[in-house]
Amino acid sequence: MQLGLNGQIALVTGGGQGVGRQICLELAAEGAHVVVNDLFADRANAVVSEINATGGKAYAAPADITKQEEVEAMVASATSYFGAPVTVLVNNAGIIPERREKGGRTPAFVDMPVADWAKIVNLNVYGTMHCCHAVLPGMVQRKTGRIVNIISEAGRIGEANMAVYSGAKAAIAGFAKALAREHGRHAITVNSVALGAVSHEGIKDGPLNVNATVENNELLGKMLNAYPISKGVGRLSRPTDVSGLVAFLASDKALFITGQTIGASGGFTMI
Ligand SMILES: NC(=O)c1ccc[n+]([C@@H]2O[C@H](COP(=O)([O-])OP(=O)(O)OC[C@H]3O[C@@H](n4cnc5c(N)ncnc54)[C@H](O)[C@@H]3O)[C@@H](O)[C@H]2O)c1
Repeated sequence: MQLGLNGQIALVTGGGQGVGRQICLELAAEGAHVVVNDLFADRANAVVSEINATGGKAYAAPADITKQEEVEAMVASATSYFGAPVTVLVNNAGIIPERREKGGRTPAFVDMPVADWAKIVNLNVYGTMHCCHAVLPGMVQRKTGRIVNIISEAGRIGEANMAVYSGAKAAIAGFAKALAREHGRHAITVNSVALGAVSHEGIKDGPLNVNATVENNELLGKMLNAYPISKGVGRLSRPTDVSGLVAFLASDKALFITGQTIGASGGFTMI
């Protein structure tokens, strides 16, 4: 299918690794000019080099999306680099890096320090709001735009030991529906994509590590049983199982899809 993303300017937050990186590569392959945001400049630069090496066009835009002034400056610099405003926004950055680096089980809500709640809410909720706030005026002016939020099935059904994360992802889905109602008259669509466990190169160990197998990781076997499609293919989802849906939602083919939360989790939930 030709998605017709030529000439679109797509900003992807947290595009330096994992799901975000693959979304950047997919959008670039479909012809979009990609603004690769990440907290870490080296990660954003590496993805830009990958895109440029395959003949695509990309711009590295390192910024901390929890800080509104950095987001506004990032959007302004990307607009000036490409000479056109952002037309597609993918709010992808969401996992707290420290959580993954520490590994192990995350605490129950009652045992979680307030400072940790704030980190999760700031990145997921405020990060998404800052980026929407920065790009919406340009989209409204041009009467076109696509916003896609990467959330988690935890936000739809709740997950023990991930209460604040679940709540933050649910907040994004609700926020997206309200924006979809506010901006339908500007032909701007706003949707969310709910993921289950996604294995990728940025995950250093545990069942989501790309080298985990049922033989070397007991938990992986249990996880595969929770995803209907995983039972059929014998693996968890990968970023390439997500990026095509995001590119589709970013295209004109999806003009009449708005305010929706779409699962890409192999049937983990069916709501
Ligand atoms: N991997 C999974 O199993 C999984 C499951 C469900 C949902 N998700 C969601 O998918 C999205 C991507 O997940 P992932 O596994 O690729 O994450 P990841 O942590 O591997 O990558 C996210 C990227 O975001 C960047 N980032 C972190 N804080 C930032 C900030 N303040 N400003 C800008 N960039 C920042 C990081 O540097 C990193 O490169 C997240 O929203 C996550 O909640 C992932």
